[in-house]
Amino acid sequence: MKKILITSALPYANGPLHFGHIAGAYLPADCYARFQRLQGHPVLFICGSDEHGVAITMTAEMQGSTPKEHVDKYHKVISDFFNKLDISFDHYSRTTWPGHVEPVQKYFKDLVANNYIEKKETLQLYSEKENKFLADRYVVGTCPKCGYDQARGDECQKCGASYEATDLISPKSKQTGSALTSKPTTHWFLMLDKFKEPLEKWISQKNWKPNVTQFAKQYIKELHPRAITRDSKWGVPVPLPDADGKVLYVWFDAPIGYVSATMDWAQKKGDKEAWRKWWSDDETHLVQFMGKDNIPFHAVIFPAMTMGQNEKLKLVDELAANEFYNLEGRRFSKSDGWTIDLEGFFKKYSTDQIRYTIAANAPETSDSEFTWKDFQSRCNAELLGKYGNFVNRTLVFTRRYFPDALPQLGQLNADDEAFVKQMHEIVDQAKEAFSQFKVRMGAKLIMDLASLGNVYFDNKKPWALAKDPAMVNELQTVLALCLECIKCLALISYPVIPDTSQKVWNLLGFDKPLNQFKWDDIAKTPLKDQHLQEPVLLFRKIENEEIENEIQALKSGSLKESDTSLKQSDPKPVSNAPSSQVTFDEVQKIELVVGKIVDAVDVPKSKKLLHLQVDMGGSVRSIVSGIKDHYQPQDLIGKKVIVVANLKPAKLMNIPSEGMILAGSDGKMLEIPFLQNIAEGSRIS
Ligand code: 2FM
Ligand code: ZN
Repeated sequence: MKKILITSALPYANGPLHFGHIAGAYLPADCYARFQRLQGHPVLFICGSDEHGVAITMTAEMQGSTPKEHVDKYHKVISDFFNKLDISFDHYSRTTWPGHVEPVQKYFKDLVANNYIEKKETLQLYSEKENKFLADRYVVGTCPKCGYDQARGDECQKCGASYEATDLISPKSKQTGSALTSKPTTHWFLMLDKFKEPLEKWISQKNWKPNVTQFAKQYIKELHPRAITRDSKWGVPVPLPDADGKVLYVWFDAPIGYVSATMDWAQKKGDKEAWRKWWSDDETHLVQFMGKDNIPFHAVIFPAMTMGQNEKLKLVDELAANEFYNLEGRRFSKSDGWTIDLEGFFKKYSTDQIRYTIAANAPETSDSEFTWKDFQSRCNAELLGKYGNFVNRTLVFTRRYFPDALPQLGQLNADDEAFVKQMHEIVDQAKEAFSQFKVRMGAKLIMDLASLGNVYFDNKKPWALAKDPAMVNELQTVLALCLECIKCLALISYPVIPDTSQKVWNLLGFDKPLNQFKWDDIAKTPLKDQHLQEPVLLFRKIENEEIENEIQALKSGSLKESDTSLKQSDPKPVSNAPSSQVTFDEVQKIELVVGKIVDAVDVPKSKKLLHLQVDMGGSVRSIVSGIKDHYQPQDLIGKKVIVVANLKPAKLMNIPSEGMILAGSDGKMLEIPFLQNIAEGSRIS
C-alpha cells in the first residue's frame, strides 16, 4: 500500500506564527494527513522549526539574546501553537537538534564529490562600520528586477525575485543604514545550471497546479550557480578544512531538515533506520505543503540538491503551494499591531471554529483573508446554525421518541432514496476533494451535507409524524436516515474539525475513536446497536458585540504603535487658553537634555520604529522612536536632538527605550528640531 509522507514548510523559529501561516502550509496539510490516515494509508506527517539563518541571528541581536536562546523560545511558542490548533504532526523537530548536522554535511559532501560545487573567490558586501561581511537580510537595497527599494539581500519580498546580495542596487546595511563596499571572500557555489536538463525532464512529468509548474519551468530556464555558504558562526559548518568561519546557507540546510526530522522521529521511536522506509522507498508518495513564496526551493533547488546525492532519496511528488491569507484586507503584521491576540482568541473561541473558518476560505487559488464578520458568520450561521443544529435536533428528537433502541429503516420512498443518494454523493465528493487537498471544497461539502440533512428533516416534519401512531414506520425511517446523515457528517468533517467530529461520534454512541475506523467502512456500515448520548452544545453563538470589540481591538492595536511614535496623530490646534495649565515647577520636572545620535538602525518588522543610540553627554542611551516614515537611519547619525531624559523607561518591540525625542508634527509631516552648537548633555529649559 502506498505510504504517504507529508511535510509542512519548516517555520522559522523567529517569532510567533499567526493564522496566515496556518492557512498556507499547516491546516491544509493536517486535513490531508487526517484524511489519508482514515483511508488506511501509512502516513508520516513531519515538520520542525527552521532555526538557522540571518533572519534569526539578526532578530536575536535586536532583542538582546543569543541565537540559541532566541530559537529555544520560539520553538516552544510555535510548537504550543500547533498543539493548540490540533495539527497532528507525527513529529515536530528542529534544525538545531544535533542529528541535523550529519545529513546536511553529507548532502554538501556528495555534491562536492559529484562536481556540483565550485569554490570561488567573489566580491561580497562588506560593512566597514560593522567590520564584517553582510548577507541576506542584513542587507537592503533596490531590487534589480522590479526596482523595489527595500528589497532584502537574498530575495525581493515584492516581486519574489531571488538573487545574490551583490546584485542589489545601492546596497546598505539593514541595521546601520551605512553604505556597503565589495570585498573578496571565498564561498562555495551550487552549480544549479548543471541540473537544468534533469530538472526539466522531471518537472514535465508533474501534474502540479499550473501556476506552480509554470513558475518552476521559468525558474529552471534562468538557473545559475548560487552561493550556498555564508560568513557566520550560526548554522551548519561547511565540512571542509579551508572553511573556517563559514556555514551553510539556511536554505541549503532547511529542506534537509525534512529528512533529518524523520531521522529524529526514527531515533525517538527506537528504530534508527526507520527513516529510510520513508525517504528511500519508491512506494512513498511525498506531498509537501507550503506558502507560494517557498516554491523555488521545493520545486527546483532542493530537488536539484537531492539529484546530486550518491544515495537515492525521494523527490517531491505533489507540491501543494498556497497563496497568502490576510487579516481584514492587510497582511498579518505583529509589529504593526495588525494581528490577533492568540492567547485571548483561544480563551474565547474554539480550535474547530478557527480551523473551519480558515478551511472554508483557504487561499488555494488566490489570496484570501480572515475577517471577524466572516468568522462570526461561519461560526453562527454554518457551524452552529447548520451543523450543530442538525445534530442537536435529530438527537433530541430520536432520544425522546426512541429512548431504548435506534429507529430502524423501513420502506424508502422516492424522497428518502433521493436523500440517501445525495448524502452518499457528498461523501464521495468530499473524499475526492480531500484527496486533492482541496480543503475549501471539503469545508463547503460539510455544510452542504448539514444543509441537506436540515432540509430533509424540515420536509419530513417528524414532529407531525410522531403524532400519528400509524406513521411510526415512516418516523423511524426518517430518523434513521438523519442519524445516518450525522454519521456521514462526523466522517467528512473529521479532517477539518476533528474535535467536533469526535464529539459527534461519541454522541452517536461509538466507544472507539473515529480515527480507528476506515473511511469506507464508516461510509458503508449502518448504525445499529449504538446508544445515543445526550446532546451537548457543539458550538457557542458569537454575539455581535464580541465581534465589534474584536474589530475595535484590531484597529486600536494597529494604532498602538503610532501612540509610541512622536505626535503622529492629527494635529491639535494649540489654543491660547490651554484647558490645563502647568506651573513653572511642573515644567522644570521634565528633564530636557541635548543628545547626540551616535547610531540609528531600523527595527525589523516594524513599520514605524527606529532604534537609536543617543549620547547624553557621557552615557549612551537606547531610544526607540516612531520616525521611520520620516528619516533614514543613516541621516540621523551625528545629529543633536532634544531628549526627554526622565521619561519612565519602557520596552518597544522588546527593545529598551530610555527616553523620548521631541519632534513637531502636523499629522502628515514630522520634523525633529536639530541643535547645532550646544554640546550633548546640556539641559534645555
Ligand atoms: O519561509 C519559511 O518560513 C522557511 N523557514 C521555510 C523553510 S521550508 C523548508 F525548506 F525547510
Ligand atoms: Zn523585486
